Amino acid sequence: MSGTEGGLIRGLEGVVAATTRLCDLDGVNGRLAYQGYDIEDLARRSSFEEVTWLLWHGELPRPEDLSEFRRQLVEAAPLPAEALRVLKLFPKTMHPMRVLQAGVALLGGVDPDAEDDSREANLRKATRLVARVSSLTTAFHRIRIGRRPVAPRPDLSHAANFLYMLSGRKPRVVQVRAFDASLVLYAEHELNASTFTARVVASTLSDMHSAVSAAIGALKGPLHGGAGEAVMRTLEEIGQPDNADAFTGRALAEKRRLMGFGHRVYKAGDPRAKILRTLAAKACRNSPEPVWYETAIKLHEAVNREKGLIPNVDFYSAPLFKALGIPVDLFVPVIAVSRIAGWTANLLEQYADNRLIRPRADYVGPARREVRGAGRGDERP
Ligand code: CMC
Repeated sequence: MSGTEGGLIRGLEGVVAATTRLCDLDGVNGRLAYQGYDIEDLARRSSFEEVTWLLWHGELPRPEDLSEFRRQLVEAAPLPAEALRVLKLFPKTMHPMRVLQAGVALLGGVDPDAEDDSREANLRKATRLVARVSSLTTAFHRIRIGRRPVAPRPDLSHAANFLYMLSGRKPRVVQVRAFDASLVLYAEHELNASTFTARVVASTLSDMHSAVSAAIGALKGPLHGGAGEAVMRTLEEIGQPDNADAFTGRALAEKRRLMGFGHRVYKAGDPRAKILRTLAAKACRNSPEPVWYETAIKLHEAVNREKGLIPNVDFYSAPLFKALGIPVDLFVPVIAVSRIAGWTANLLEQYADNRLIRPRADYVGPARREVRGAGRGDERP
């Protein structure tokens, strides 16, 4: 854009770029609701499957809808042969987010509804995506540690099946409750960077898998979902609660970004962090390494005191996921296992009322000039 027409808003802060019925995010008062249901209520009383259904259909499912949806997820979970073959070819050291991104792109190519973009076909694709983001993550982990992928059990919930497919052992009820609640909390969050990315891709009328694969690329970054993994690395660097004050002083003096702190929209606190803190406290108390929660508490106090920053959703989920036995490099894929619900819901909304998303840039390069001089070839007409 030349001249001064239009105003630049760096990082699109505060820009409203869509209407949505999915998520009501009140950053001033630190409140969040999906389709009118408060997040605390949903985390306490509903499952990830119910929330996914709520996001897609606008209402919580009836018991018969829920059991049919659970059946569909289990049925869709096994990966097509092509995907399993490809998972075995990836280097075992490859970051699981890259595997997930490539895996989703591949699934798009072999999806039976690949050429059908009707709402019905997109709902079928969304169901398969919810099931298979979970199975891609767990199957790659099993393969890289030299084990066979595990099929989901029809008697287990989506959350329980993720933990089961990861470890091969049926998880305890308390573990499933905490993990299910975290999937509910991560499921949707308005126009965060990955959801916006997904909408941008969909706005070109590209397909759902292409949009999700791009969203996974955005989620991977440390300023977004990648922060969860970075929080755990920070806690490991600190080592124990007594070191948190000194670490904070040093990190702030070095102008380091403190992962898991700060938020673009929440200024009075992230309501998800409060719930995750309670879940993490309980899970860590019952784990062999309570030190991670204790260290997180001390770091939270020090950062809040010294810099006034609030912990975001990725802060307390780190000690929680660690206590649930999830490998640290799977913390971000776990967010995708949940956020796939919100991505697909946003894509359904975008396709239903689409307009190409195409903003402008403010040009700040050199003034117009001519190509001159020897050795640049003949002038072309
Ligand atoms: N550590 C240190 N300083 C910070 C932090 C932080 N975590 N967050 C913000 N600041 C400072 C920043 O240095 C800047 O200070 P100054 O004005 O003196 O230069 C000021 O606060 C504003 O920062 P900003 O980066 O312009 O603010 P933003 O709204 O663009 O940033 C954020 C939001 C989430 C990217 C940022 O807070 C951050 O980098 N946090 C750490 C990464 C993180 O935890 N990401 C997860 C975000 S929530 C979940 C998700 O999206 O998946």
